[in-house]
Amino acid sequence: MKFVLSTIAWVESIAKKEIEKQGWIIEETIDRLITFSGWIELIPRINLWSRVGNKMYVLLAEKDNVRDFDSLFDLIKNISWKSYFKKDFPIVVKSNSTRSELFAERTIQSLAKKAIIKSRVWDNWIVDEDSSLEKMEILVLIIDNKARILLNTSWDALHMRWYREKSWEAPIKESLSAALVLLSGWKFKEPFYDVFCWSWTIAIEALMIAKNIAPGLKRKFAFEKLWLVSSEITENERSLARKKEFSGEYTIKASDINPEMVSLAQNNARIAWLWWEINFEVKDFREYLNKSISWTLVSNPPYWERLKDENLKSVYNDIDKLFRLNSELNWWIISNYMEFDNLIKKDTYKKRKLYNWGEMCYFWKKNI
Ligand SMILES: C[S@@+](CC[C@H](N)C(=O)[O-])C[C@H]1O[C@@H](n2cnc3c(N)ncnc32)[C@H](O)[C@@H]1O
Repeated sequence: MKFVLSTIAWVESIAKKEIEKQGWIIEETIDRLITFSGWIELIPRINLWSRVGNKMYVLLAEKDNVRDFDSLFDLIKNISWKSYFKKDFPIVVKSNSTRSELFAERTIQSLAKKAIIKSRVWDNWIVDEDSSLEKMEILVLIIDNKARILLNTSWDALHMRWYREKSWEAPIKESLSAALVLLSGWKFKEPFYDVFCWSWTIAIEALMIAKNIAPGLKRKFAFEKLWLVSSEITENERSLARKKEFSGEYTIKASDINPEMVSLAQNNARIAWLWWEINFEVKDFREYLNKSISWTLVSNPPYWERLKDENLKSVYNDIDKLFRLNSELNWWIISNYMEFDNLIKKDTYKKRKLYNWGEMCYFWKKNI
């Protein structure tokens, strides 16, 4: 079977490694989509283990040069829909078109629904108007006139970890936080620090990486409602994942100047059942200007759009000072405060572009 994993921008290389680690070969990477093939077991495995992926899809059909609606209709109609779905399970059709002749998304969606009904699946099958129902998502994706018909096996995006309260969005995406920890090259036996922790995300993701906890272990997925993956396969993958957890001890410190933030962080870590393993403190990061530290530090300092901080320049000047004082520190910050470049000696830093919730940021690192 062929699968597609979507990712956030600029972390495709990490997502590819996650798939290759499971022993599979990547066929193609385009526009934040990684295509690979393998066995059914990969559906629960990648959903359970991908830290930086967005959604995992089964590739139901694909075709080059789809330039008219008739070809698209036939492509969708010829899919053997009954082999994937349980009777009457509602679906929702989404679409996205880039650099292609067929681009009217509403027309593509209604054509796709008609093609599915025409393939005589079940009566009253498509009920995407009813927002109270859980639905299977079909995605019609057309890029450079190549159409791909995809079935979402994840349901909610994979960055929505089980420890996240539904109503609450972390200031930094969970999948991006995991990517930052992986990019930092943190060696798990060394202390890890986030000095602007706000809620928890970077610290909790760091601990889950160190302990090899599968990020999707305790959440629900769409594939559990499909014919494709038996409950035995799913249970087997969950139990294998549980056995892979390490029980080592790690030093992870998270602090923030705002006491409300620290209590929010503790609450979220409590939901994650990891709170006693992370040391949360109320602290101004400037206190570290008088100490020598030699740890890995990954932080998301305040920046303009988010915090309207009048003293932003002085915060970033002090960040620079802290890092110059501690030459042994493996430090990284993610921010969209582009002025940082003008405060620092450029040749002592390198940076990498990343997106947080669609906002362009840089991940700055000291050049050792
Ligand atoms: C962009 S937020 C961090 C978001 C965090 N990465 C998360 O995912 O929740 C920046 C944080 O820096 C904190 N902060 C601002 N000035 C600080 C200072 N001098 N020392 C420590 N924390 C500070 C703010 O209270 C805020 O929580």
